[in-house]
Amino acid sequence: MPTSEFQRKAVFFVFFAGSLILILFALPFAESWIKDYFALHYGLVITPEGRAVAVDGNAVGKMTDTTVSMVVNMLHVFKIVFWMALIISVVRFLGYLIFGTAFRSAGQTEISSLLRTVLSMIIYIVSFFIIFQSQYPDVQLAPLFTGSAILGIVVGLALQDTLGNLFAGIALQADQPFQVGDVINLGTRGTGVVESVSWRGVKIRTFQNKLLVISNAVLGKETIEVAPRGNLNARTVNFETSYSDSPARTIQVVREAVRQVENVSQKIRPVVRIRNLGTDGLEWEVKFWLEDYTKHNDTDALVRQRIWYVFQREKIGFSFPTRTIHIEPKSVETPFEEVRETITDRFSNLPIFAPLSDEEIEKLTRASNVRVYAPGENIVRMGQEGNSMFVIVRGSVKVQIPENGHPKTVNTLKENDFFGEMSLLTGQPRSATVVASEETEVVQIRKQALKPIFESNPQLVSAICEIVEERREILVSNTPAEAEAVNQKGAGVMRLIKNFFGLS
Ligand code: CMP
Repeated sequence: MPTSEFQRKAVFFVFFAGSLILILFALPFAESWIKDYFALHYGLVITPEGRAVAVDGNAVGKMTDTTVSMVVNMLHVFKIVFWMALIISVVRFLGYLIFGTAFRSAGQTEISSLLRTVLSMIIYIVSFFIIFQSQYPDVQLAPLFTGSAILGIVVGLALQDTLGNLFAGIALQADQPFQVGDVINLGTRGTGVVESVSWRGVKIRTFQNKLLVISNAVLGKETIEVAPRGNLNARTVNFETSYSDSPARTIQVVREAVRQVENVSQKIRPVVRIRNLGTDGLEWEVKFWLEDYTKHNDTDALVRQRIWYVFQREKIGFSFPTRTIHIEPKSVETPFEEVRETITDRFSNLPIFAPLSDEEIEKLTRASNVRVYAPGENIVRMGQEGNSMFVIVRGSVKVQIPENGHPKTVNTLKENDFFGEMSLLTGQPRSATVVASEETEVVQIRKQALKPIFESNPQLVSAICEIVEERREILVSNTPAEAEAVNQKGAGVMRLIKNFFGLS
């Protein structure tokens, strides 16, 4: 508070209040002078009730009585007016001293305005009652306010909104959700800096320099977001970089750049983090804390500007809508040729296919295809029908049968092993579930491709029969149900195969 302002107010108060006190001192003298004047010139005595009586005790004329009572009443009114003026000036000056200096220096500016108004009003009303009663002891003011129900209703209705605002304002002050100078956000109504809190409402200076006036009653029902003045309030600014730029480097340079922006607090280090791995690039946010939140729009803009400059210097690129197109070079061999070569290669090296001629291998290859399975994926499932067998090209599989409700691994097969031959050759449901242990590539051979080959290669049938027998034995020792099936069919695997394929 500038001292000159205080001095100016103090001098004015002393002068004004002093003048009023002098006038109030002078008034009784004026009264007695008037009384003397009437007694001397008109032979009248003025009673304490303000009536005129002749010195000899006789009644006076109506005109004289009225004139005298007017003069006396004028004196009373003067007294009331001057006393009230004195009280108002004292209250205002004290209000200025207490709320304008003591509260402000204690950082309690928000309570000054409303409290000051409410307290002043109470003092004025009480003072008026006292002064009025001292001048007119016979007039009863209290019943005027307490006795009249109609007056009460009329005043109540007329003051409904005003009183609503007043009490909402008092509640707001008791709660103190914000103070003068805080930035508040009222959603759709707007955002701005609180300029004043009065008994009627709150004035907010928006960032477009407009004044938003909201009544306390309305404000009491709103959800208010407050950025307190003394608090380090945070902001976030978003940006995107391309995938080719190192995140660690981006964090470092952005943090340093933002740190140096004016109004960004030095007390807390800005946080730079990846919000999302977006379609066009890395989506970032930088969070920083402001010394003065009222300047957040300017600070945000400055932060964006600094990021641009630092990116220019450090050769970091902002992302923009990007689509990466890979153009695959034309292969020397067709994909089919490549696959066919792999399959032929595999089949030639399989011991069970050793009896087959090159031509037969070629035929088998043509009727096969390559499939890739993910780790944990079922390649064949126990109990299902099966009309193809598989040779493992890459990876490994687990052969599983259920035991007590859980899968039990009875064997593990690797590269160059085959499976699925049992159903394919006998027409029975799959005897086990085969699961890929890792990413596994297999060649699938269908029944139709095998039939002509079996016809011309009886050794192949018996070689496969041997393996099927061996595998069945393992299954028998693990599952009673399978043992039953084997017993029923005896050594009839060969017979089953021949039947199924219609071989003689
Ligand atoms: P299939 O019954 O068609 O389907 C499941 C396959 O698991 C089966 O053929 C065999 O190829 C294979 N299989 C079953 N038992 C064993 C075992 N003990 N060892 C290796 N492979 C087996």
